Amino acid sequence: MMQYIEPIFRPPSEAKSLILQVTNGCSYNKCSFCEMYVSPQKKFKPKAIAEIEKEVKAVAAQIPDMTRFFLADGDAMTLSFRRLKEILECINKHFPNRERVTAYCLPRNIKKKTVEELAELKELGLTMVYVGCESGDDKVLECIQKGETFETSKAALVKLKSAGIKSSVMILNGLGGRKFSEQHAVNTARLINETQPEFVSTLVVSFPTGEERFRAGFNGDYEPLQQSGLFSEIRTFIENLELTNTVFRSDHASNYLVLKGTLGADKQSMLEKIDLALNKPGSIPLRQEWERGL
Ligand SMILES: C[S@@+](CC[C@H](N)C(=O)[O-])C[C@H]1O[C@@H](n2cnc3c(N)ncnc32)[C@H](O)[C@@H]1O
Ligand code: SF4
Repeated sequence: MMQYIEPIFRPPSEAKSLILQVTNGCSYNKCSFCEMYVSPQKKFKPKAIAEIEKEVKAVAAQIPDMTRFFLADGDAMTLSFRRLKEILECINKHFPNRERVTAYCLPRNIKKKTVEELAELKELGLTMVYVGCESGDDKVLECIQKGETFETSKAALVKLKSAGIKSSVMILNGLGGRKFSEQHAVNTARLINETQPEFVSTLVVSFPTGEERFRAGFNGDYEPLQQSGLFSEIRTFIENLELTNTVFRSDHASNYLVLKGTLGADKQSMLEKIDLALNKPGSIPLRQEWERGL
């Protein structure tokens, strides 16, 4: 029914969604920590709209009451406003019970789209995007070759909010190593405070196939954080957050310590949980190495 080019990635919260692969790969594909779309069969290419419609129709014939949809791969929001509109209209035509459509989104993906266009996409069902900000610190962003800065990330998050599209921001714990840990935590909190996204999640950076490419961006000056360093960094990050209503999660499989709650309300209890993990090891359950994964 679906012609997937593997591997396919989706956020944990999209487990019940139909994954529509509207592009193959990532249009940027240069972040030094990311190995998701590096294999030869994952070269970036948008899928033709006729093919997308064929797949949508085929699924609708089998599961007509599907409500949630995730547009893959790595940055489906790179597609033009016109193409995204066509895709959403196609979903709406074949799935009358559609509740929400989401996608990964790089800040630069929405630079050329106006607030009005984004608001139109929202009306057509695009209620939320997952934005891989990773850090709010310009030095760390440069080292990891994200191609974004504090200001470009902020501009994107502000624009999405003006259009009524929710943001789920992904932050990478341990991304700056020991040297940049403090500024990574503080400036990322500043980015989140100035944009007040609806969701924030943290993942622990890891390198299943080696970290040479990543290290090169730091000129050899990268010392990975051990577990306590990762917890201290998250503590500094949360301590510096001043949020009114943001759902915070560190429940992705890559995390050792699972935190879930709404900030600001749960700030104190989250800090207490981190302090327990830091100061009384064994008093709080942590994920074991073998339970973690990307
Ligand atoms: C498939 S990517 C898509 C996000 C989108 N392309 C962007 O950058 O905004 C999803 C997220 O996975 C996370 N990720 C990628 N490589 C990782 C790694 N080596 N370790 C931990 N998390 C990683 C990053 O937070 C990234 O934003
Ligand atoms: S993190 Fe996102 S933008 Fe960067 S290479 Fe991976 S998929 Fe592409």
